Amino acid sequence: MKRQAKASAPAKVILLGEHFVVHGEPAIVLAIDRRATVTVETRSDSKIFIRSEDMGISGFFMNDQFFPQRGGVEAKKKLEPIYAVAREVIKKHGLETAGVNIKIKSSIPIAAGLGSSAAVSVASAAALCSLFDSDKSKDNIFQIAFNAEKIVHGTPSGVDPAISTYGGILWYCKGEPIRRLDIDVDLPLIIGNTGKERSTGELVAKVNDLRNRYPRIIGKVIKAGGEIVKRSVKAIKEKDLETLGELMNINHELLCAVGVSCEELEKLVHAARKAGALGAKLTGAGGGGCMIALVSPEKIEDVAEAIEKAGGEALTTRKTDVGVAIER
Ligand code: PMV
Repeated sequence: MKRQAKASAPAKVILLGEHFVVHGEPAIVLAIDRRATVTVETRSDSKIFIRSEDMGISGFFMNDQFFPQRGGVEAKKKLEPIYAVAREVIKKHGLETAGVNIKIKSSIPIAAGLGSSAAVSVASAAALCSLFDSDKSKDNIFQIAFNAEKIVHGTPSGVDPAISTYGGILWYCKGEPIRRLDIDVDLPLIIGNTGKERSTGELVAKVNDLRNRYPRIIGKVIKAGGEIVKRSVKAIKEKDLETLGELMNINHELLCAVGVSCEELEKLVHAARKAGALGAKLTGAGGGGCMIALVSPEKIEDVAEAIEKAGGEALTTRKTDVGVAIER
């Protein structure tokens, strides 16, 4: 067995279909060039010690009990999925317990809808599979990270760990094989971060609750969300960014209808549209976090400036085809 291993995985933006994807509709998602990197090493005891430099938290798990070091007992919630990943890899390797140090470094904004927790889970799964010399296939890494996501988000669709594992642009529909859309298209996107943290699990539960109370109405909104995604594939293939922008706008209004937008997001979305974006919508779970704007190249600066003026942080980003990567 090796003494040390390292892996990284990308962040993502959901172009279209968040939330509705939890209810069986498709989503289109792309990997972006911000990554989480995880370094793991063996220990001589049976502690699973986890440290996240960016979150300023650390602690160890032993016999399913958490012992905080930095960040107090609250750190447990954030570190638990990584512990779940470690437990699963160790168990699959046929061991009852094993000690490891897990160190996380990430350039992905946290709790912002860019899939930071999934990228960390995917990179952790890959680094640990490499350390224990277990199955390093993408399918196995995805499955381990997906199981861990279920601990944090309750009923996730799996879209986040999928894109972090496979990279590129994916058509994702729960229960169907993951489909990579090999379309050579440049999608100039600006991300606007409201800086407001929120919980994906709570927002997913909110939509669920609304659907339970108004099944005939919300059911139709969800179906319409799926139709937008289907229609968008044609627009993407034809590089018809005007239509894609319009579909993003409609998608955003449907997300408003299910109650996951907020004042901060609305400000950024409207500022971007006013500054000439082809389309703008929230991305990810909503309730804060990030929005995305599709822009023609000559409008990039105007839209970025408008987002900043409206109180957001504008990040320009590019799509990446590199999914999870184990470093040699
Ligand atoms: O956690 P976020 O903000 O990247 O959003 C995840 C996307 C949702 O559709 C809201 C939830 C899911 O599991 O698909």
